[in-house]
Amino acid sequence: MSEKPEYEKNEKSEKNEKKVSRILVLVSGNGTNLQALIDAERQGGLGNGKIAGVISDTAGVFALERAKGAGIPAYTALPCKSLPKQERRLELSGRILAKALELKIDLIVCAGFLSILRGDIIAVYERGMINIHPSLLPKFGGRGMYGERVHRAVLASGEAESGCTVHFVDAGTDTGRILLQRTVPVLAGDTPETLAGRIRVQEHAAVVEAVRNLA
Ligand code: GAR
Repeated sequence: MSEKPEYEKNEKSEKNEKKVSRILVLVSGNGTNLQALIDAERQGGLGNGKIAGVISDTAGVFALERAKGAGIPAYTALPCKSLPKQERRLELSGRILAKALELKIDLIVCAGFLSILRGDIIAVYERGMINIHPSLLPKFGGRGMYGERVHRAVLASGEAESGCTVHFVDAGTDTGRILLQRTVPVLAGDTPETLAGRIRVQEHAAVVEAVRNLA
């Protein structure tokens, strides 16, 4: 096949550049959801999405190593402990918003991010910020429901199934519009760890699917 004329190539690459959706991933711990996104991007599974930065609210977590290993700019933004809770949330949210604007971010993904965001970032990134939660919201969401606590509560309640939810972030906690859910059975003899493991596999697929759809 003959080579395309130079002007066509330029026009095409310019169009592609314009369509790139810059993603900021917020993390607090191990970062397996971040890793799923990194792997998906490498395999072309994020559509036009590009992970342009990672911010952790906790120092020294493995998620930061994953980001660095993938050559993604990684930052730590610690909550200011001396501030009262509401001000602490606002102040941290303000710093994350400033970094998101500086990095020209289109989509923020809370992937195992345990700080609660408040203030301007919610409005600025309305329909541009998503969260992955390890339950079938609205069940087992809200204050105090994160990580292993969610799975303990599901097992204690005798639910036959659980799963994960990707939703937009709004001014509440785990209350934003649901984008997609994936379900897993709760099995006899499940522990919080075995249930979490089964859900984690679905989380990774769900977060990638949601990002690909939005990016
Ligand atoms: C994930 O299971 C995520 O759903 C959960 O924290 C875990 C982080 O895992 N998030 C919440 O509970 C938010 N309310 P990861 O660091 O390995 O991605």
